[in-house]
Amino acid sequence: MSDTMSTTQPKASFKEYQSFHRFLLVDEVDGVKVITLRRPEALNAISDEINNEILSVLKENADNPAVKGFVITGYGTRAFSAGADIGKFPQTLGNKAAAAKYAKDCAEVQLFMDQMEKPVAAAVNGMALGGVLEIAIRCHGIVATKNASFQFPEITLGILPGIGGCIVPYRKWPQGAKLFHEMICLAKPINAKEALEIGMVNKLADSIPEMIQEAVKEVINLKGKIKRVPDGKVAIPEMVIPEPPMAGKQLLSREAVAITVKTIKEGAAAETFAQALERGYQGNAEIACTDAAKEGITAFLEKRRPEFKK
Ligand code: COA
Repeated sequence: MSDTMSTTQPKASFKEYQSFHRFLLVDEVDGVKVITLRRPEALNAISDEINNEILSVLKENADNPAVKGFVITGYGTRAFSAGADIGKFPQTLGNKAAAAKYAKDCAEVQLFMDQMEKPVAAAVNGMALGGVLEIAIRCHGIVATKNASFQFPEITLGILPGIGGCIVPYRKWPQGAKLFHEMICLAKPINAKEALEIGMVNKLADSIPEMIQEAVKEVINLKGKIKRVPDGKVAIPEMVIPEPPMAGKQLLSREAVAITVKTIKEGAAAETFAQALERGYQGNAEIACTDAAKEGITAFLEKRRPEFKK
C-alpha cells in the first residue's frame, strides 16, 4: 500500500463510524467529548430524543478511562438552545401526575450528572433558555461567549422551570438570589457579563473556537474538584413582585407567578437537595393544571401573545 493511501484510511473500525446520533454531533478534543446539540430548525430546542441522546453519550463514556469529561454546546451562533420542546407540553396539561412524571423523566440527564465522577462543562454559544438552562446550570462549570444570554422564559408561557430551575440556582450561587427571583418569576434575561458577576459562568470567550478551548480546559481543571449541589436550607431574600407582574410588555399570570414564588420558597426551605428537587417537580405539576399554562402554551403554538385572565 502506498503512503498516500495509508494516510487516507479510516483511523477507527467501521463499526465506530456507524454509531452516530440524530440530534447530536459528538467530537473529541484533548480526550474530552464535545457534545453539540444540533436541531437548527427549532433553535436546538430539546426534544425527548435529544435528551435521551445526551444521556446515552454520558452513560456510554462515564466509565471509559480514555475520556476525561464532557462539554455540551449548541450548533450555530445564535442559540445554545431555545429550551425544552414546547410542542410536547400540551400532553401533560391538566394532568398533575403526568406533569410531575414528565419533569422527573426529563431530569434524568441532570440526576446522572449530579453523581458523575467525570466533569461536564456547558459551553454557551448564544441564548440559553428554559429547559436547556436547567441542563447548563447542572453542569459542573459554564463557559460562555461574550454575546451569550440566559433566560427562564417559562413564566411567559404560564409555567415554571420544573427540572431544577426553581431550586438549583439558589443552592449553587446564593449570592445571585435576587437576580434569580427576577429571572424565574419575571423572565428577566441576563447577559454573559451579569452571569459571570454572580459566579454562574466561570469564563467568557471572544469567539466560539476560544469558548470550546476554554470549556475543554475547564473540564480538565475540574478533575477531582467537582462541587456537588449542597443540601440544607437556603436563606433567600424577600421576593418583590411588581403589580401587575410584567415581563417586558407581556402581562404575566398572577396565579402562575404565585405558584412559582411558592415553589422557590419551599424549595429553598427543604432540608435536602433531593427534597428540594421533588418540590420543584410538584410545582411543575401544579402549574400544569392552571388556565395560565393552557393559555401560554397554546398561544406559543398558535404564534400569538398569551392573554392571561388571572
Ligand atoms: N420548542 C419548540 N420549538 C421551538 C422552541 C421551543 N422551545 N423555540 C423555538 N422553536 C421553533 C419555533 O417554533 C420556530 O419553528 P417554525 O419555524 O417551525 O415556526 C423555530 O424554532 C424558530 O423560532 P422562531 O420563534 O420563529 O424564532 P424567533 O427568532 O422569532 O424567536 C425565540 C426566537 C427564542 C425568542 C422564540 O423561538 C421563543 O420564544 N422560543 C421559545 C422559548 C421558550 O419559551 N423556551 C422555554 C421552553 S422551556
